[in-house]
Amino acid sequence: MILVTGGAGFIGANFVLDWLATGDEPVVNLDKLTYAGNLENLRQAQGDARHVFVRGDIGDRPLIDALLLQHRPRAIVNFAAESHVDRSIHGPAEFIQTNVVGTFNLLEAVKAYWMQLPAGEQAAFRFLHVSTDEVYGSLGPDEPAFSETTPYAPNSPYSASKAASDHLVRAYHHTYGLPVLTTNCSNNYGPLQFPEKLVPLVIHNALEGKPLPIYGDGSNIRDWLYVGDHCSAIRRVLEAGRVGETYNIGGCNEKTNLEVVKTLCAILDDLHPDSPVVPHAGLITFVTDRPGHDRRYAIDAIKIERELGWKPSETFETGIRKTVAWYLANQDWVTHVTSGEYRSWVSENYALR
Ligand code: NAD
Ligand code: TYD
Repeated sequence: MILVTGGAGFIGANFVLDWLATGDEPVVNLDKLTYAGNLENLRQAQGDARHVFVRGDIGDRPLIDALLLQHRPRAIVNFAAESHVDRSIHGPAEFIQTNVVGTFNLLEAVKAYWMQLPAGEQAAFRFLHVSTDEVYGSLGPDEPAFSETTPYAPNSPYSASKAASDHLVRAYHHTYGLPVLTTNCSNNYGPLQFPEKLVPLVIHNALEGKPLPIYGDGSNIRDWLYVGDHCSAIRRVLEAGRVGETYNIGGCNEKTNLEVVKTLCAILDDLHPDSPVVPHAGLITFVTDRPGHDRRYAIDAIKIERELGWKPSETFETGIRKTVAWYLANQDWVTHVTSGEYRSWVSENYALR
């Protein structure tokens, strides 16, 4: 079986559900259930004996040791992290704790477990660390996209904490021989994304007739990838990636934030023509920029395509339509996750902008 961490969050839950749908191998899912983790994301796996959920922290060494001993996984996929840049600006401490100290703790436990495995199991074992393109910093308009050899230059507390975790993962391979793989992916969108991130936040606000906040002038660029394509890339890297290597994952879909928001508004106009707020683009509101806001991210994904034959299957147009349709069909989920903590975050982040 495999052990997934952070599998009740956005990408982790999509990964676990896809894993169970595409194979037979069981999965142990360790998640702390922070504000971003939600057992409702795993509803489809309820009653499936191949899915074992454990509530816990990647920083809890005795718990990790016990889980490894009990389940003897052949691989770990590490999604667990604090993941939102704006929150890392308001409160970086949790990012250091989970992303840096937590990953370190996980690596220590996994190293001890891996070292006592029989030779064959040791050779087949994998630790796959899920990271972000944000570790590479910000690109100018004409600079080439990030490749696996682009120097790290993280600019936010979030990206700095992810960069630190990537370095630790690399060091555990170089120093101890732990068979690691690292993936650095661009911005994901799709079902189950917590509505603090741009795409679900805009859909949620638009449906409520609330302003659609665009930081700065809306010309910052991100490279958008449908979450299902990210999951298929991770499965492929786990299956055939070369040990010690990093793989960039991206959608070849560079868009300005304004383009993304206008696309969402046009789809909502189409699907909700009778809404009193049509055209939804009338709700767009430019607000004070994020401090240190990276201008542009773009991924060169040629290595994973050439070596492992992976390519995204969704275009931005097909993926974003599916995503809007999912949020419209799952308003109960949105209502549940936007209670309590969500409201205090929204007033903390947007009240003074
Ligand atoms: P998310 O915030 O939606 O989910 C994170 C999950 O980790 C939550 O379920 C949370 O409860 C859990 N978690 C947090 N701290 C934990 C801890 N100490 N121990 C155990 N579980 C803990 O994040 P996401 O968007 O699903 O991102 C998953 C991973 O992918 C992260 O490592 C992130 O850096 C990376 N990533 C995200 C994107 C993106 O666009 N969202 C892009 C590239 C890489
Ligand atoms: P986000 O979804 O937070 O991802 P990241 O910062 O990790 O790229 O933001 C995506 C882009 O959208 C980023 O350039 C910031 C911008 N943004 C807004 O303009 N308004 C918002 O309310 C949010 C949350 C993000």
